[in-house]
Parts: sequence; C-alpha cells; structure tokens
Amino acid sequence: MADESRLQAISARVISALRAVVREFAITEDELHDTGKYLDQMGAAGLFPALLDIAFAMTSIDATRAFEGATRRNLEGPMYKAGAPLRAEGNLLDSEPGPDAAPLTLRGRITDSVTGNPIPGAIVDIWQPDEHGKYDTVGFNLRGKIAADYEGNYLASTILPSDYAQHEHDLIGDLLRRLGMSNYRAAHIHLKVWVNGEELLTTQFFRSDSPFLDTDYVVGAVSHDLIVDITPVNGPDEPSAYAAVFDIAVPVGQG
Ligand SMILES: [Fe+2]
Repeated sequence: MADESRLQAISARVISALRAVVREFAITEDELHDTGKYLDQMGAAGLFPALLDIAFAMTSIDATRAFEGATRRNLEGPMYKAGAPLRAEGNLLDSEPGPDAAPLTLRGRITDSVTGNPIPGAIVDIWQPDEHGKYDTVGFNLRGKIAADYEGNYLASTILPSDYAQHEHDLIGDLLRRLGMSNYRAAHIHLKVWVNGEELLTTQFFRSDSPFLDTDYVVGAVSHDLIVDITPVNGPDEPSAYAAVFDIAVPVGQG
C-alpha cells in the first residue's frame, strides 16, 4: 500500500474495533497467545489469502466495483489459469467426460451495460470444476475462451459443474466447521469477459439446483441475479443433457 495515511487510518480503525472485542469478551492474555499461535499456523499453511477471500472479497467487490446495470462481479478465486485456449467450436472438453458427467450447453449474450448494445467479438474466458468438483490444474480441460458472434452471443459445450469442498482437509475447513458454517461452495461456473484485449469483468454464476446456495462459504458470493436455471433438454423425466443461459452486461469504459 503506497499511501501511508490510508494504511494508518485503516489500521487505527481495525485496532479500535478489535480492542472493543477484547473488552466486551474480557479476552485473557492466554487467549491472546493461543490466538497468535493459531494465526501462525494459518499463515504457515499459506491460508491467509483464501481466508480473506472467503470473509471479505465480496464485500470489497461490491464496495468498489459495482456499476449500475452491469452484471454483478464475483471473486476470481484461486483456480483461474491465464492462457486458456480459444475454443473455436465452443467445446470446453479436452477429453471424454466421465460416466457421471451431464452435458451442458451454455449460451448467453454479451452486452454493453450502458448502451445495451451487443458486443460482437467479446471474449468469454470460462473455467469450472468437473462433475466431482475438481478443476483441471494441469491442463485446460473445462477451460477456454470463446468469441461472441456478430450479435454478441456466445455458446459453450461443457458439463454440469458440481458443488465442492475445497478446504475439507485444511485449517480453513476446521474453522468453518467450528463456526458452524458450511464447507461447500455452491456449484458454479467462472467467467471473465475481455473486450478489445481489456479484461472488463470477472464473475461466476450458480446452479439453481445446488443445495448450497444459502450456505456457500464465500460470504456474500451467491445472489439471486447470479443464480441460473439448469433446464433438462430432454424434458424433466429423462434428463441426460442440460441447457443454461447466462447473459452478461459489461461495464465498458467504466473502469
Ligand atoms: Fe470455483
């Protein structure tokens, strides 16, 4: 942080708030030292960035990067990989899907949030987990860039993402359990939108049928405008493939 007056002002406010908690709960020196050791463990495990994302990322995004009429932003999270291939046919699969995977056709229109006009040639950069909640961290399966057509429409062939418990076996998972919070993220697909080479928006949308919409551990991530219906293509009795529509309004020229 370059601006030390900002650092000093924020620090003073945080310390003041924490002192009030120490007074209110009569926190002892032993409890302070236990807290220090616990924070050391969390830091040694490299978990502070994820912890801050879980607790504060959405508050920060909503406070600093909300534009009227634009699709709500959402956190990038740790699973984004730059350099995903351009998928000319829109197919995000690099290998045959597993037997439990359900095909999903995802489409939507990219528009300018100010004018409402479609944005031909906008690039949608998509990444998502598979049917077991796993991201491909080695290659680019279920990742890829798709160019919007002349009417601003994009079309992706993929599979339904699953809910996942990324922190099940680490200190964050322990903390969430002790706090009585869910250890699951509601099933979602991440997207970034690029216009003329400039990254303008990062968001994610959520499966309307996820049981974790109300308890996603990323505080404030799920909102009704980012919940997308998953429609069986073959009718509700014999669902074998699904379709979803996610339109994206991009704040062009608004930072
Ligand atoms: Fe994710």
